[in-house]
Amino acid sequence: MVEPGGAPAPSESRPGEEGRTSTAGGGSAILARVPRTQQIGVIGGDGIGPEVVGAAREVVDVLARAHSLSLEWVEHDWSCRRYAETGAMMPDDALGTLAEHDAILLGAVGWPGVPDHVSLWGLLIPIRRAFRQYVNQRPMSVFEGVPSPLVGARPGEIDLVVVRENVEGEYSEIGGRMHRGLPEEMAVQESVFTRLGVSRIADHALELADQRRGLLTSATKSNGIIHTMPFWDEVVAERAAEHPDVTLESELVDALAAKLVLQPQHYDVIVASNLLGDILSDLTAAVAGGIGIAPSANLDPTGEHPSMFEPVHGSAPDIAGKGVANPVGALWSAVMLLDHLGHAEAAGVLMEAIRTSLRDPATRTRDLGGTASTADVTAALCRLVGA
Ligand code: NAI
Ligand code: MG
Repeated sequence: MVEPGGAPAPSESRPGEEGRTSTAGGGSAILARVPRTQQIGVIGGDGIGPEVVGAAREVVDVLARAHSLSLEWVEHDWSCRRYAETGAMMPDDALGTLAEHDAILLGAVGWPGVPDHVSLWGLLIPIRRAFRQYVNQRPMSVFEGVPSPLVGARPGEIDLVVVRENVEGEYSEIGGRMHRGLPEEMAVQESVFTRLGVSRIADHALELADQRRGLLTSATKSNGIIHTMPFWDEVVAERAAEHPDVTLESELVDALAAKLVLQPQHYDVIVASNLLGDILSDLTAAVAGGIGIAPSANLDPTGEHPSMFEPVHGSAPDIAGKGVANPVGALWSAVMLLDHLGHAEAAGVLMEAIRTSLRDPATRTRDLGGTASTADVTAALCRLVGA
């Protein structure tokens, strides 16, 4: 099962969803299925990161007991605080440590005083790249009870997923600056688009569209960016030819941004390059009623490396420590994590609980016009998933 925008489970079964053990049984071996414990690395990060991830852990623990899932959390204190103390966001062997996990749950990193490029390039980007998390998947839905800034947006009508290329494109390290401080000072930043990179993101988006409404919209800017974007268009169209059941439309990103505000119900799956997808997915999160509920998954669809799940929002220093952060973005990310680990049924139960809690202002946080604290929402969700 795939929840609205949920991560499709990897096609090969994950290592050890179920292990086999033989129990000595008087000559005839009886094979009993013993679930292997799946290990989830947790990076709370900074600000509200640890608050929302703590909430997600609490709820998932109750859910795991109710569904007999064997999950183990392994906490890592990697953050801007660690950077301030040691000069590094994470230890030297961090990637090796994370590689042992079945999945990673991240809160948010970033704190005033630490430049954002330090937290990004010192933690997030190395993880995404080392683990070939080439898909960044961000679903959005308008839920009952969540006010959308769009006039006339009705719950259930808008339900789309942005699939963003996550490891190449415009976010490259190639380029440089010259003649600093002089009138002729210049900066050059190269974009990198490869056939492999564009093909695999297109394939993932096409497969997802196939499981959903069968419409794939590709964001482009081939009228202004005349080398990489026509290449993107060509490769996406080639891959789409292999999926006759999916309708492909290509839209210039500026027009697409406008249509996402005016006509969001049209869209199903949107595939975009790293930069365009970054921008479009913040727009869709805002259209759905707020960054506080938006989830994301950084996926290695091959299952070779752990995938990482994180709310879209940042560390929100303005509300950190006040107990009012909305945990839904982290919890919806946990839904995607559970789905990815092969626990579709439990994921569905959690998603339904989120939907229920959002309907009631008493179990909605203030950013959504409710009155609940983070702890109130967490307690309500624990009750719902434990029932
Ligand atoms: P932000 O998402 O942290 O906050 C933007 C606004 O939304 C703030 O007013 C905040 O209070 C509100 N908000 C965010 N999440 C919320 C939640 N769960 N519940 C209720 N309100 C919420 O973005 P901002 O302020 O631009 O960035 C703050 C720091 O976070 C920066 O250092 C930035 O680099 C970092 N950041 C990290 C990300 C990551 O770890 N993936 C993503 C985005 C930002
Ligand atoms: Mg962003």
